[in-house]
Amino acid sequence: MWIFAHRGASGHAPENTLKAISLAMDMQCDGIEIDVHECDGQLIVIHNRWLNSTTNGQGIIHQHSFAHLRSLDAGLGEKIPTLREVLTCVKGRCMVNIEVKSWLTERLVLAEMDYAVQSLGFSDQQLILSSFNHHILHAAKQQRPQTLIGALTSCIPLHYAHFAQELQAFSVNCDIDFINQAMVDDAHQRGLKVLVYTANELDDIESMAKLGVDGVFTNYPTRAMSRLAHKL
Ligand code: G3P
Ligand code: MG
Repeated sequence: MWIFAHRGASGHAPENTLKAISLAMDMQCDGIEIDVHECDGQLIVIHNRWLNSTTNGQGIIHQHSFAHLRSLDAGLGEKIPTLREVLTCVKGRCMVNIEVKSWLTERLVLAEMDYAVQSLGFSDQQLILSSFNHHILHAAKQQRPQTLIGALTSCIPLHYAHFAQELQAFSVNCDIDFINQAMVDDAHQRGLKVLVYTANELDDIESMAKLGVDGVFTNYPTRAMSRLAHKL
């Protein structure tokens, strides 16, 4: 089962910062997950639109310039990183799940993925593009067919993983509160991987392993790794 550091190793360092990403690298995670917004044509790595939830800023991202956002403290003196900085930090050493958080030009993200493959040592198999906005995923797949799509859902749809197959996805990225064996089996029958967010507790890790999911997003990667190793 793959272990993805959710927002980097966010249980140990400020979420979505280079510190959390570096820590996930040190922990030898299989992958990291990050959240991406756009500001002034730049892709920045941050979860919420509201700045006061993770930085010392106020208001929402789009009310500010990129320069202002970069001057903020995202925790322990860390800056809000750009997607390029995160990809440069990882340099193809593990998978990266790029979650698009808002309406933005998918072309911007696809260009970064191209750059990562051409200049940073990534393979196309190491980069997953996910979003709750399936229109962005659909457009991305049309424009860059080799893109691995992570079809996010926070529910168990009536037709299970059919929506993800329609998107020609690589994986269906499921909410741990709404996952069951039928969903996992249906996804696997359709040739899809199942990735689950956010599995932080040891019981969660164990039950996801029992369901046969392919990966989990967790804020505490070493906790998950040690539990899995203990069970081997
Ligand atoms: O990508 C998985 C997960 O991060 C989706 O939810 O709100 O934590 O970004 P959220
Ligand atoms: Mg996310």
